[in-house]
Amino acid sequence: MKAKANDDFVVPRSVAVIMDGNGRWAKQAGLERIRGHERGIDAVRTTVTECARLGVQALVLYAFSEENWQRPQREIDLLFKLLKRFLTEELSTLMKNGVRLLHSGRRDRLASDVLDLLDRTVAATAGNTGMKLSLAISYGGRQEIVDAARALAAKVASGAMRATDIDEAAIHAHLYQPSLPDPDLLIRTAGERRISNFLLWQVSYAEIHVADVCWPEFGAEHLHAAFRDYGRRTRKFGKVL
Ligand code: IPE
Ligand code: IPE
Ligand code: MG
Repeated sequence: MKAKANDDFVVPRSVAVIMDGNGRWAKQAGLERIRGHERGIDAVRTTVTECARLGVQALVLYAFSEENWQRPQREIDLLFKLLKRFLTEELSTLMKNGVRLLHSGRRDRLASDVLDLLDRTVAATAGNTGMKLSLAISYGGRQEIVDAARALAAKVASGAMRATDIDEAAIHAHLYQPSLPDPDLLIRTAGERRISNFLLWQVSYAEIHVADVCWPEFGAEHLHAAFRDYGRRTRKFGKVL
């Protein structure tokens, strides 16, 4: 593999983050899990602002998975309360940084007040031309592929499309946010080395960076470390270089 200088810092075009370890951070600090989620919002603000400043074009943050619906109702309620607080309080930060908000995920299980606020924030930031920020909420990678398959099947059944027209581009066009490029870099915090049903279609050639710190501790210096790690990778896409 090509050796590169240690200080190689490359800003990826597209970044995805599995924000993990809020509960562990809180436990270590002798606090309730929800305090970890609360502190996680500060890390979201830092990462969003720093990615926008550095010129990342697309950032997807995994905020609530399809499987997270199996958590205790009290934790779910508090997580959505925090999401509503984030959408209300951080709108000015999004506007100031030219960030355009999007949602990746299923809408059917989200409460109407959450959907309203999400839709209003998406609309309020729709004219921003800087970084796209998609919040993956009620998101599952397998569910996204199922939904795309259903939409394509419906088009074939209605005669709008032929089965042989289904190719990679057609599947991409039926993902939740087709305007987002595939992630170049996938970051996961809290040391876990798994995908947990995140962007299964899109990560096929993403570089993976695992940070050992829990999400509430993830600051600009950890993001920079991830970009340096990314800068040292040789991306081959199956070819011989
Ligand atoms: C990530 O932190 C946030 C969500 C999944 C909503 P966790 O809540 O998973 O924290 P740990 O993994 O239990 O430490
Ligand atoms: C993945 O973290 C989901 C989010 C970060 C929103 P989890 O904590 O839910 O994943 P597992 O259970 O450790 O795989
Ligand atoms: Mg976790």
